[in-house]
Amino acid sequence: MSSPYIVGNWKMNGLRSTLAEARAIDRAAARYPKVELALAPPATLISRMHDVVNAIGIGGQDCHVEDSGAFTGDISAAMLKDAGAQFAIVGHSERRAAYGESDATVRAKAQSALDAGLTVIVCVGETEAQRDAGDAEKVVTSQVAASIPQGEDVAPRVTLAYEPVWAIGTGRVPSVDDVAAMHRAIRATLESAYGAAGKTVRILYGGSVKPDNAAELLGADEVGGALVGGASLTAESFIGIVEAVSPAQED
Ligand code: 13P
Repeated sequence: MSSPYIVGNWKMNGLRSTLAEARAIDRAAARYPKVELALAPPATLISRMHDVVNAIGIGGQDCHVEDSGAFTGDISAAMLKDAGAQFAIVGHSERRAAYGESDATVRAKAQSALDAGLTVIVCVGETEAQRDAGDAEKVVTSQVAASIPQGEDVAPRVTLAYEPVWAIGTGRVPSVDDVAAMHRAIRATLESAYGAAGKTVRILYGGSVKPDNAAELLGADEVGGALVGGASLTAESFIGIVEAVSPAQED
């Protein structure tokens, strides 16, 4: 198994003063050599964050499908890369819901991120109504199949994030058994898309991950890390999650 990948999604939070938290996370990262850490700050902070951290990855929270052009307010994957990002998150449920992003749009964004030389985190997840109707696995696996970038050798640059919409920012989390069942279903979908390479794609869990539930959630079958929202905004809670998953190595 590869090391756990713990990614903080700052969403629309963070001013220059917040970079102190990123610096503290970066300093702490040395104590956790078995964990891969990254932050996705708002685009305005990518370049500045890149200047002040060494040990953690940096990513964007979205990208446009095109490299450049007349798309007022949008940011391309090439621009994220130029600012210092190594990856882009695409298909977050907040974007799917607020901007009507379809699976096809998410796939095009993922493809443009790869074309720009970034890796990509593709997000999927069911709503509460879909889970209550017994459709969660069907919904999520069809999102995976239609949203991931296609190609013979892209799998090593793809990460999946399963984020049940009803667990985001609510303090509610699925049972460990439900997380494991969904991650196994996602794994099967990745293997049918990518063949053997689909076995190594990391599948993150996201939705109300906190220091006190992280070890249990990340211990579930096929969970390769976490995508953390609110608890990634301070070094204290983000490192609390890392510590819970893989205790610090003291030298
Ligand atoms: P919370 O950790 O705040 O629930 O957010 C999860 C999320 O949406 C990360 O992308």
